[in-house]
Parts: sequence; structure tokens; C-alpha cells
Amino acid sequence: MSNEQQVHYYYPPEELVKNAAVSGMDAYHALCKEAEDDYEGFWGRRAKALLDWKEPFTQVLDESNAPFFKWFADGKLNVSYNCLDRNVNKGLGDKVALIFEADNGEVTRVSYKDLLARVNRFANALRGMGVKKGDRVVIYLPMSIEGVVAMQACARIGATHSIVFGGFSSQALRDRIEDAAAVALITSDGQHRGGKALPLKPIADEALTLGGCDTIKNVIVVKRTGVDCNMVAGRDTWFHDACADQSDVCEPEWVEAEHPLFILYTSGSTGKPKGVQHSSGGYLLQAMMSMQFSFDIKPSDVFWCTADIGWVTGHTFIAYGPLACGATEIVFEGVPTYPDGGRFWRMIQDHKVTVFYTAPTAIRSLIKTADNNPSVHPRQYDLSSLRLLGSVGEPINPAAWEWYYEHIGGGRCPIVDTFWQTETGAHVITPMPGATPMVPGSCTLPFPGIQAAVVDETGTEVPWGQGGILVIKRPWPAMIRTIWNDPERFKKSYFPDDFQGKLYLAGDGAIRDVDTGYFTITGRIDDVLNVSGHRMGTMEIESALVAHEKVAEAAVVGRPDDLTGEAIVAFVVLKGPRPTGDEAAAIIKELQNWVGREIGPIAKPKDIRFGENLPKTRSGKIMRRLLRQLAKGDDVIQDISTLENPQILEQLKG
Ligand code: WTA
Repeated sequence: MSNEQQVHYYYPPEELVKNAAVSGMDAYHALCKEAEDDYEGFWGRRAKALLDWKEPFTQVLDESNAPFFKWFADGKLNVSYNCLDRNVNKGLGDKVALIFEADNGEVTRVSYKDLLARVNRFANALRGMGVKKGDRVVIYLPMSIEGVVAMQACARIGATHSIVFGGFSSQALRDRIEDAAAVALITSDGQHRGGKALPLKPIADEALTLGGCDTIKNVIVVKRTGVDCNMVAGRDTWFHDACADQSDVCEPEWVEAEHPLFILYTSGSTGKPKGVQHSSGGYLLQAMMSMQFSFDIKPSDVFWCTADIGWVTGHTFIAYGPLACGATEIVFEGVPTYPDGGRFWRMIQDHKVTVFYTAPTAIRSLIKTADNNPSVHPRQYDLSSLRLLGSVGEPINPAAWEWYYEHIGGGRCPIVDTFWQTETGAHVITPMPGATPMVPGSCTLPFPGIQAAVVDETGTEVPWGQGGILVIKRPWPAMIRTIWNDPERFKKSYFPDDFQGKLYLAGDGAIRDVDTGYFTITGRIDDVLNVSGHRMGTMEIESALVAHEKVAEAAVVGRPDDLTGEAIVAFVVLKGPRPTGDEAAAIIKELQNWVGREIGPIAKPKDIRFGENLPKTRSGKIMRRLLRQLAKGDDVIQDISTLENPQILEQLKG
């Protein structure tokens, strides 16, 4: 996008604009102006209108202990009440809340009334085990009805949940249980994926034996695959047994708006994953506002977010946002490629999905599948129910955007390219589907009320057209509250001194279009990689590699990848001689599997190269920029005169 280039804008269809929550750009600008003129009023009015409060709040924003901001702090509410009871009370009891489609295609519909009863039974079971307000509960479950029930049940009794993605290893699970000092672990015997039954409980069992998990008093196990499962007497209970004699009624725990609804661990540039702590009131408010503004959710919609509940997208757009809005949503257990690459499109057709939200990586891989196998090309399916599409997790390349628009959206559905993060809790930069002219590859303009900007190293805003650092200038209700157990790290990571502690540092680079001010995200500016929309810290992978007995040193960088956005490349120095040929191939396999076991399969390096040493400056710093060039296969253009051992570049070229 620039003056010289002709920009092609895509406009939302008339029909959608007419009925949209944010209808036309004037409406969008009016909302932004409302927030500019009266910031607290903007959020406060919506918090009153959209949430049911047990005790109303009198103060909207408390900045007295910045950057530990508080929103609606003296108000009390319950998130599960807001998602379930009030919909039932409004007469939506028989409306379908969840359409669960299992890996094998079996469909289960759960009404709001039924979901409330399931949540209440499990909430009572947890209470019966002594789990109470403020306790942490770790949930290690596949995509399932019980996953949503468990999250809602924790919210109901005021327990703070922490979901660990089912693809994470026992070590990763252990680390999170220990950091959160969780009292209970909810898991399942196994999970179905792509026609296979995979074990889960043994991984959980192993985690609990690795040390540091003594706080866990109860393990609750959902029966999913029916595989034999080791149950430890006095500690382990079947989910169905725990719920069997429980009442359908459970008085919610009314909590302060700031009460931590959940902790979600995510990767940072240094050290171990950080526990991002979210609130109850502010978080739920913006989960709802994102559903309303960005997805224009209507009572008749069938909403499908394909994310896993293990990521923030699955929190905001499966467990909470859609339910708080009384929507009908899909929960999908399986994978997009089973039984064939038409699974997503067939499900959209069968369930008459109207709003579909997925990640660019999924789109790119399905483009490939459709090209290779015309029988599962989206044109084979009736996708006419769709009216709106969304993208999340990584930048979407214009070619994928256009394919998504043409072949999935039939040229009539706006695509909301939603930029946000685990830390932001809800959308922060995104088109409004009934207003914003879209440009492929740009997440366009800030969500109403969000004051996003692009600044230089001193925190000064740079002119449009010039790249810089993405920041948010004012606190917002759904923002991260702190890093669990580490408030200092919270301050340092997100409100650094470079910006006098006044700007929220997103960790991404961005550039605004010279004409429109549209934002384009240019990628992370720290050592965080984005592989298939999953955040991975390079340090985490390096630590896993050096924990292997053969490895002396390792450096990990990202390289652009057509399919996964970024791919992980590891440069490794072994304790023994530098291997070549078959020996190198065998060690590469061994190290990939090792990382898979240490962190999880998503962290496996795609490319591992061995050197006798790593390129370092005379002062001993690894030259990462140089490694990134090598990883990409670029000619090395960096000045290497300070390099101690220039010959090793040849070894690392790959
Ligand atoms: C990236 C996922 C470009 C970005 C919700 C961010 C995006 C990180 C987009 C957060 C987008 C997310 N365009 N980049 N629409 N959405 N990202 O915490 O680098 O898993 O900082 O949250 O993903 O990843 P997280």
C-alpha cells in the first residue's frame, strides 16, 4: 500500500452493512470519537449494558497503581452466570449453545439449559472436593464439551483455570502446574484425532511424577476413548462419577470484577512461559464486544471458531464470548484433514455455519489440499450459509486472503483480519465487517476504544508509512492484569522504562498506510516465533535442545515458510565431533523427537544444522541476525569482521 501502488479495496455487501452492529464508517468513527471524548464513559456504559452485575461498579478505571490497572473494581459478577443463567432466564434455555462434532463425525447438540445443568453438576463436584474461590485448576483436555464445561464450572465457583494445550508434553504440563500451584487437574483418558485414539492420561500421570506438583489433590478424568487408564486411589476420579449425584443447581460465587478468571501460559522472548492473568469483568466485556462488533453476531448465527481451547482464541471465542452473547457455536474435536481435506467445508455445509473464524496456516494448507485433490475443493460444498469470515494468529498473506474470500466466502463475505494477543484478551485491531473497506494483508484499524499507535524506540509516534513498534496508549478492560507470580516481569515486558512505563508494548512491529492509516503487522520484534499461529519462544526451544546429553550449545531462529508462516531452524553444536551424512540425519531425528517430548510436537525444529561452533562476536554474543540470514538461505550481507571464526558459516549454510 502506497501512493504509487493502486490499492484494491474490498467492500462489505449492502445487506450486511444495513444490519450490522457497526454500520458504515461513520458509525465506526462515531464510536472512536465517543471513546476519545469520554474514555471511561465509553467502556463503563457498555459494561453496564452488556454484563449482569450482582453489585454494580461505581468506578470504571483505577489507574492509581499503574500499570496494574483495575476496571470496574468494586463491581461483583459471575462469568458463568453471564454466559448461561441469564440466557436461560431470557428464554433461550432450549436454544442450542454447542454443536459438538466429534472426530468420527458424531454430532451432539447441547442446549443452554443442558449446558447450565452440566456446568452446575461439575461445579458442585469441584466444590465437593474442596476447590474454592481463588484456587487454581489446570485443565488438560482435548476439544470437547467437557472442556467448555470445566472452564465454565471453574468460573462458576470462582476458581481460576489454566488450560494447558493437549499437545504439550508432560514437562510443559508439570511446569505450568507448579507455577500456578494448582489444586486440581482435569484431564481425559485419551483423545481422538484424525481417526486415531491417542493417550492423554499417561502424560498427565508422568507430569505429576516429575516433582513440583504436590499441590494437586484431585485429578478428574473424562472418559473419552475408553482406553485402559491408571486411576490412583484417593486422587483420581472419573468425571462422570464426580458429576453423577450432583444437583443441577449451583449458586454462583459472586466475584470482584478483577478476580482472576484464568491464567494462560504463553511464550515470551526470555525464560520460561509466562502466566498471563486475566480478569473477570473487563475480560468478559470485551469478549462480548468483539463478538458484537467484529463478528456482528446475531441470534440466528452459527458461529465456528476452529481454535483449540488451549489457546486464547479458544478462550475468548469458544468458552466465553459466544456463550455470553447467547450464540450457537461449533466445537470440533478433530482435524481439518480427516477423513479428508474437505472436513471444514462439509461441516460448514452440514451445520449451516454463518460466521467462520480460522488461522491463515489452516487456509494455506487447505488451499494446497484443494489444489491437489479437486474432490475436496470447496466448490464441491454448499457454503452459501456463510456471511462473514475471520482470520487470526498470524499475518495473512494476500494470496491466501483472496482465496479465502473467493472460494470460501463466495466473494460476498467480509474477512475480518483480527489482530490481538493472549495479553490483549480480545480484538485490538480489526476491520468492522459492516463498515471497513478491506485490504488483503492489513488488519486495518483499531477496535473502537483501543488507542493503537506505531512508535520509535523512544516512544514517539512515527509518521504513517514508516515502520515502527506497535503500542497501545491507554489501558483497556480485557488487558492482561499481571504475569502470575511475577509482577516485575509484567512491568518489564509490557510497560518498559524506554516508554516511561506509559505505553503497552505489544511485541510486534507495524506500519501504517500513508493514505488510510491502516495497520499492517510486520511480525514479532522479539525472540518469539509464530509457527502455524502458535507462539514459541526461541529460548524455550534452545533450553530443550541443550538439555539433551549430546548438545553443547544451540541457537534457534525463525525462517519464513510458505505453509506455516514461520519455521523453526536450530543451529546446534554437539559435545562430540560435528556429524555428517547418515549420522547427522539420525541425530537430527533424535533431537526433533526430543524437543517434541520436552515441549510438544509444535516446537520441533523443521531444520537442524550442525556447526563446530556458533557465530559469535568477540564479546561472545551469538549473532542471531546472521543466523536468520543463513536460515533463509540468503547471502550473508552482515559485516562479519567481528566474527571470531568465519569458517563456520560454511558449515551452517545447510
Ligand atoms: C500474531 C493469538 C498478524 C502477532 C490471538 C501477535 C497476528 C501474536 C494476528 C499473538 C493478525 C495474531 N495479523 N499477526 N491478525 N493475530 N498475530 O498470543 O505476532 O497466541 O503478537 O494470540 O500472534 O499470539 P497469541
